[in-house]
Amino acid sequence: MSTNRRTDGKNTYTLPSPDSYPYQWLWDSCFHAIILSHIDPQIGQQELLSISKWQMKNGMLPHMMYWKNSTENSFPKINWGAKSTSTITQPPMLAYSAWEIYKITNDKKFLRKILPVITKQHQYLLRKRDPRRHSLVGLVNPDESGEDNSPRFDKSLGLPAKQQIDENFQKRLQLIEKFRKASFRIKGQIDKEHWVRDVPFNAILAENLRIEADIAKELGKMDIEHTADLEAQRVQKAMRKFMLEDEIMWSTSGLNYRPIRIKTWAIFAPLFSGSLTSDEAEILVERHLKNPKEFLSKYSVPTVAMDEPAFDPVGFWRGPVWMATNWFIYKGLLRYGFEEEAQRIKEDSIKLIEMSGLREQYNPMTGEGMGARNFTWGGLILDM
Ligand code: GLC
Repeated sequence: MSTNRRTDGKNTYTLPSPDSYPYQWLWDSCFHAIILSHIDPQIGQQELLSISKWQMKNGMLPHMMYWKNSTENSFPKINWGAKSTSTITQPPMLAYSAWEIYKITNDKKFLRKILPVITKQHQYLLRKRDPRRHSLVGLVNPDESGEDNSPRFDKSLGLPAKQQIDENFQKRLQLIEKFRKASFRIKGQIDKEHWVRDVPFNAILAENLRIEADIAKELGKMDIEHTADLEAQRVQKAMRKFMLEDEIMWSTSGLNYRPIRIKTWAIFAPLFSGSLTSDEAEILVERHLKNPKEFLSKYSVPTVAMDEPAFDPVGFWRGPVWMATNWFIYKGLLRYGFEEEAQRIKEDSIKLIEMSGLREQYNPMTGEGMGARNFTWGGLILDM
C-alpha cells in the first residue's frame, strides 16, 4: 500500500496499481480506507478527505481523479468532457469506509468534515439518477458499476455473450461520447440510451444511506439521520419491488425494468445490504453459491456463474475472481450467519494471494493471477 501512496500538496491518496492504474479512483479509495483502518487510520482519513476535493457542484463524486502530479501516464486517455476528473461515478462506498475509520479513531472532527460530502453524494444519486422517483438509481455507463465489461451490460451495449474486450471498450467509449453530447442530461436523453439499475450499486447505496444515518446520529444531526434512514428503506423496498424475481434480484434495463437474467456475483450483493429475507438468502447460498456448476469453482468466487454462456475465466469482469467482490460476498454471508461459507471465501482469498501475489484478478479454475500488479484490493483480506 505505502509504495502506491502519492501526495499532492497536503493531499494524500493511493494508486490502485502504479503501472496499470496511475490515478485516483473513487471506490478504490474507499477500499483503501477500509484497509487502512487496520493499519494507519489517520492516512485512511486523508485518503477519504482527498476525494472530497473533487466533488462536483451537483454533488457527484467522479470515478477518476487526476491530481496535478500524476505523471505516471499509461492509462488510455479518454475525453470525459472535464479536465481533471472523469464525468461518471462509481458505487457509493464513502459512508461505509468513513464509519470503519471512525470506529477505530473516534474522531468526530473527521466525521463532521466527511458527512456533508456523503450527504451531497447520496442526494445527487437520488435526485439526478432516479428521474422518475422510484428510489432506484440508474447507471449511464457500465464503468459506473466498477465492473467495466460485466455481461450484465451486454444487452444494453448491443453485444453478444462471446465478445472481444476491445469491442466492449469501444462501445463504452461511444456511450461517453453520447453522454458528453447530451451535456450530461439524464432525463429523456441518457436514460433511453443506457439505463441499467444495477443490483450491487443500489445495494451499496442502501447500506451507505443506512450508515449515513448512523453517522448523522453520532453527530446529533437528527434531520439528516431521519432522511437518510427513510431513503435507505425506500431503496430497499424498491429493490424488492422491481428487482426480485424467482428469489433472485436481477439488475434491470430500460425504463420498464426488464430483468437482466444473467447470473453474476451481483445476485449475492443484496446479502451485503440485508435486502433479502433469511429464507431467500438460504436459497441463494444453497442453490447458487454452493453449486459446482455455477459459483463453486476451485477458487471462490467467480464473478460470473460458470454455466453462463458469457463465462470466461480470463475475461476481466466476465469470470475471474476479484478481491473486492469476494469481500462484499464475505460480509454479506456473515450478516446472514453463513459462517462456514464466509470462511471458505476468506481462505480461498488468502490462497490466491499467497499463490499468485497481489494481482487485479485471479483465474477461478487455476488460481493464476492476471491483470494489474501490486494491486491494492488484496489488502481487503485484512478486513475479512
Ligand atoms: C478497473 C476496475 C474498476 C477499478 C479500476 C481501478 O477499471 O474495473 O473497478 O476502479 O480498475 O482499480
